[in-house]
Amino acid sequence: MVTQEHDIRSGSLEELAQTVTDAEKREAIHTVRAATDVTFTWDYERSRDQLVKLYVKAKTSQWNVSTDIDWDIDVDPWKIARDPNNPLNTTMALERAGTPFEKLSDDEWYDLGAAQQAWVLSQFMHGEQGALICTAQIVETVPWIDAKYYAATQVMDEARHVEVYARYLRDKLAHEFPINVHLRALLDDVVADSRWDMTYLGMQIMIEGLALAAFGFQYQTTPDPLLKQITRFVMADEARHVAFGVLSLKEAYADLTGAEVRERQEFCYEAAVKMRDRFLGQEVWEWAGLPVKECTKVMLDAPMQVEFRKVLFSKIVPNLKKLGLLDAGSVNGNPGWLRQKFGELGVLQFEDWEDTGAEYERMQLEAV
Ligand SMILES: [Fe+2]
Ligand SMILES: [Fe+2]
Repeated sequence: MVTQEHDIRSGSLEELAQTVTDAEKREAIHTVRAATDVTFTWDYERSRDQLVKLYVKAKTSQWNVSTDIDWDIDVDPWKIARDPNNPLNTTMALERAGTPFEKLSDDEWYDLGAAQQAWVLSQFMHGEQGALICTAQIVETVPWIDAKYYAATQVMDEARHVEVYARYLRDKLAHEFPINVHLRALLDDVVADSRWDMTYLGMQIMIEGLALAAFGFQYQTTPDPLLKQITRFVMADEARHVAFGVLSLKEAYADLTGAEVRERQEFCYEAAVKMRDRFLGQEVWEWAGLPVKECTKVMLDAPMQVEFRKVLFSKIVPNLKKLGLLDAGSVNGNPGWLRQKFGELGVLQFEDWEDTGAEYERMQLEAV
């Protein structure tokens, strides 16, 4: 039997509908054990020209959250929630009849939309902290001096991204949400893995790739000029980060064995399915006192949501193709393992979209 896209789930509805526990919500600290070897290098030769170029560019592209963002712009979350073109309140496009949303008044429904925006931005903020920690790890573990230099600039970039979202949430929106339990699990896995290339693959390619697609969508369509400004600044950094990941891994993956390649393909596939079907606004429904499982199911099945979640792969697929992971294992025209799996997920349509190296070059040209 041919596998259909909608048959592929990373867990039962009960698992997908989970949120962090109340006790965890009260805790300000979350600790993960990471048994990672820290690597010094005594080879200071600047031998990787493209990484050198990225590092030089990163040094002159630093921006300041306090002075480069126009914080005087007023934001009315309720007005934005009512804007039919707002991409952050995709819930507003849901069919309410026959769902737990049916009994809500219009005001309650739009309150939910405003909360949904805050939820998306809260997850961006938590994800940015994940990037901050992963990049600090890359500084410690990557064996090349050019990559250590570059990663150090990314640590600063990610600190700035956490700062900018935290400030936007605190100063401009009504809510801040705890981390989505599935995002936390993904970050925990990436942080705990001792292999430096897995930190890159998990953070720089998969999570940042997904974020870059989400930011791009947000940038094109947000009705909030302040958020548009913030997103433009963050995206310019993020495109550089994904380009750094692709450049580094292309070199590292040239010498992998077939078994090592397959392990990485499986990791990418599992992360992809989880990222596709686990970010469903669970904490918003919980906050609103709505039945989380039923609302999660509405989100999971709504046709517009299904399409939106596919678009989130528009950066990941071309980058995995560029890394050789998409087609590794293909023999005599028969698709390799990952190509077949991504075909089942319905995301191969993006394989020839611009990869992030090319996109980054273009964004630099546009910025001149
Ligand atoms: Fe970031
Ligand atoms: Fe980043």
